[in-house]
Order: sequence, then structure tokens, then C-alpha cells
Amino acid sequence: MKFLITAGPTREPIDPVRYISNRSSGKMGYAIAQAALEAGHEVVLVSGPVALNAPAGAQLVRVTTADEMYDAVHAHLAGVDIAVLCAAVADFKPASCAPRKIKKRDGVPTIKLVPTRDILASLGALRPKKFLLAGFAAETGDLEKNAREKLEKKQCDAVIANDVLAPGLGFESDENALTIFLPDQSSRVLPRASKHDLANALVKILCGMQQKS
Ligand code: CTP
Repeated sequence: MKFLITAGPTREPIDPVRYISNRSSGKMGYAIAQAALEAGHEVVLVSGPVALNAPAGAQLVRVTTADEMYDAVHAHLAGVDIAVLCAAVADFKPASCAPRKIKKRDGVPTIKLVPTRDILASLGALRPKKFLLAGFAAETGDLEKNAREKLEKKQCDAVIANDVLAPGLGFESDENALTIFLPDQSSRVLPRASKHDLANALVKILCGMQQKS
């Protein structure tokens, strides 16, 4: 099968030396790419800036901003069977990027933010949708409620949720704990484990879902 995976953060430029970003390390998305490759699948990995080596055999598409990630994902949809959007895409970007470094002597700047395009929702809205679509939800509370809202609003086949406030888990960690929420109201818990083991389990589950659909 062919996987399209997004991973890592995006960077939204404020001026030539500053940007808005987030704490995503890309480890979960890269682990899913690795697991899919090890299981014999084809992988396109659309990655924001991370300090990780691309898994051998993946087609790596490097991007920086949310707009670039949106365009790269839509440009690589042909033949995709399973899309896993794991990237921590910035929800907001500066309305414009200052052409020169903003100087302190000019006072505290006011930075106007505008929303970025939602890549996951844009794929969920495609008709006909030829692939299984899984999104991620990084939450700091109300895991089930927030994940189910995303599942419905973004028209996904699965939302994989984790609590980023859980001690020792989430962002830069090598471990995680996940709950997969499905449209039939069921859910599946993948308890605390290495991102590598979780990725293997996820790839198996997603392939099983895709074969049934
Ligand atoms: N996502 C995306 N494009 C965006 C923002 C998010 O594709 N511009 C995807 C992420 O890759 C992830 C999922 O949407 O799979 C969840 O992202 P999140 O930002 O948590 O969802 P939001 O609807 O923005 O909700 P929140 O208010 O919790 O940020």
C-alpha cells in the first residue's frame, strides 16, 4: 500500500530571522513512516523542519510553512491508500512577513495573525475520497470530546489522540500512549509504549481498516 505521512512542526515566518512554531519533534510521524516501510509499504513523508534522518526508502518532501505543507500534500495524493496526518501544523501564521528584521528600537511589535489552511480537513472534504484518512489530536484535556469533534468536523476515518500533558510522554519523548477514535463510536487504546512499537501497531490497524473499506 502507499502511505502519505505528514510529520514535524511548521514554521511561520515573522521576519527573516524569526518564526512561530511549536514543540513537535517529528518522532511519531517518522516512526510511522519507518514502520510502514518495514512492513513493505511505499511511503511519501512530507516533513516540516526536524532534527531526524529520513527513514531509508521513504520519498522525503521537505517543507517549512503550513502553506508549503498543504501544497506538497495535495501534489502527492496520486495512488495514496492511507494518509496519516501527524504533523503539528501551525494553526495561525503572521498576516505578512516583514522584509527586514524587526528592530527593538521601533518598540514592541503587534503581529497580526491569520489562520492557516487546514490540510486534514481539506483531505476529509475530497469527493470521491480514495484513501483512508487518519488525523492526530494532541490534547491537554477532554481527550475523547476533543478527538471526536475533530473526527467529525474534519471527516476522518480515525483520529489518533494523545494527552501531551501526560508526564514523560508526547512531544520530544521516545514514548507515547494513544487512543484511536473511530466514527462508529468505538475506540482503541494503545497503552504507553515506545513510539516505534506504537507505530507498528498503528500501521497494522490502519492497513486492516483500509482492506475492510
Ligand atoms: N492539521 C492540519 N492542518 C492544519 C492544522 C491541523 O492538517 N492547518 C491536522 C494535524 O496534522 C492533525 C489534526 O489536524 O492531524 C489536529 O490538529 P489540531 O491543530 O489539534 O486541530 P484543530 O482543529 O486546529 O484544533 P485545536 O483547536 O485543538 O488546535
